Amino acid sequence: MDTSSIVILDFGSQYTQLIARRIREQNVFSVVLPCTAPIEAINAQKPIGIILSGGPCSVYDADAPPSDPRVLALGLPVLGICYGLQYITHHLGGKVRSADKREYGQADVTLIDDTPLFDGLKPTQTVWMSHGDEALELPEGFHLTAKTANAVAGIANPEKRIWAVQFHPEVHHTRQGTALLRNFLFKICNATPDWTAEHFIQSTITAIRHKVGGGQVICGLSGGVDSAVAAVLVHRAVGDQLTCIFVNNGVLRKHEFFKVQESMRDKLGLKVVAVDASGRFLGKLVGVSDPETKRKIIGNEFIEVFDDEAKRIAEQSGGVDWLVQGTLYPDVIESSSVKGPSQTIKSHHNVGGLPETMKLKLIEPLRDLFKDEVRRIGRDLKMPEEILQRQPFPGPGLAVRILGEVTPERVALLQEADEIVVTEIRAAGLYQQIWQSFAVLLPVKSVGVMGDQRTYAYTCAIRAVHSEDGMTADWVPLPYEVLKTISSRIVNEVRGINRVVYDITSKPPGTIEWE
Ligand code: XMP
Repeated sequence: MDTSSIVILDFGSQYTQLIARRIREQNVFSVVLPCTAPIEAINAQKPIGIILSGGPCSVYDADAPPSDPRVLALGLPVLGICYGLQYITHHLGGKVRSADKREYGQADVTLIDDTPLFDGLKPTQTVWMSHGDEALELPEGFHLTAKTANAVAGIANPEKRIWAVQFHPEVHHTRQGTALLRNFLFKICNATPDWTAEHFIQSTITAIRHKVGGGQVICGLSGGVDSAVAAVLVHRAVGDQLTCIFVNNGVLRKHEFFKVQESMRDKLGLKVVAVDASGRFLGKLVGVSDPETKRKIIGNEFIEVFDDEAKRIAEQSGGVDWLVQGTLYPDVIESSSVKGPSQTIKSHHNVGGLPETMKLKLIEPLRDLFKDEVRRIGRDLKMPEEILQRQPFPGPGLAVRILGEVTPERVALLQEADEIVVTEIRAAGLYQQIWQSFAVLLPVKSVGVMGDQRTYAYTCAIRAVHSEDGMTADWVPLPYEVLKTISSRIVNEVRGINRVVYDITSKPPGTIEWE
């Protein structure tokens, strides 16, 4: 894309993606590269400035991440953050030492230099610190720009165009952090704020048109926001050369198979092939209770159904060349960074995954975007809010919310209960504030009484969690009245469930889904 960009070199901080987002919020494009990226890869982004992120290591650690030393000699403006400051200090001849006390949390900083980085900022700042090492001696040509009561908080060498701060301007708790980042972008790098939704849409459409030419394209819809926005973008570029495939795997939510067709085909005008394969999926799930086996069956069956449909479309249209995927930027960053060994808690089989046997070329129109940016693009594309604001829904659908065997009867019960939960959470105005809210069907029957009748029926658990990214989560203290309405509606309206319980487990130690 032909916009000015900021390259962020990732030294492993938990806040690196946040830096990228803060920059983009200023309508300036930013790219995260591993700190080990060679200078050629950095230059390929045509950066107008470079940010060195924080990181968990000490510059003296044997496994301190190496990076190309030429970065500091490119002549481009550089902003070091936290570890970035120590990296600059260490590599340009200064001294870093392990601090007596690890500084973590809010701190007060005094700005003692009128560097353009601090333009318009108050002389005393509340900032967010998170580091164990500190700069002791500054490299030649550098001077102190900010300090805490007893440590270095900012340094600069304007001649070399290098600035650095020990604190984290990207974190909310650094009150004037955004102003500082804006100074770096607009006063130091002379950035142009041209990374806008409109610009992105126009240039993406042109690029897709150019790439695809007269070829045929297919796209798997999951009902979620990413695949929907990706499909609409591609449709704007190549119209009916795009065919979308939407599979009913038998474990969708109530009416979802029809609702998605209605939005995508009737409201947005896309060509959608809707395949009701629910019988095929539920047939394969008979007698299966193990969560991972359920996931595998649904994942494999999806690939087969998708493959069959793709072949049919290819026969009708004279061949399919391209597959659209709704890959987002966090996945791109994650797959390019180095990961340690980790245990598989759950294998996530996402609907819309690439059938490996299909030799299709990929179009990933969202691979530069974060989730909130995808929603903004969707809004500019005039897509319905009900798609854009949808809470995440797992690929294996209700199958991982029905504990034990998945039967048509149990799916129908859970669809009814789930519909009530979603309706009531929406009615209370809470749907968009909550990461996920749903019902889980437990294979536990208990005794109840309705009217004068004894009942013996299933238990349903309600789960609602706040989360940033699904990695950790807190249970939501739903208002008492909302819980009361949900419980009474489920027990009264869903024949087969006579008890409702509320899940008050956070993640960790729980997971969001029960399976
Ligand atoms: P857990 O249950 O692992 O869920 O805490 C974290 C997030 O991932 C979703 N999830 C899945 N998504 N396929 C998916 O596409 C899966 O198999 C799957 N399992 C969990 C879950 O809904 C939550 O948002």
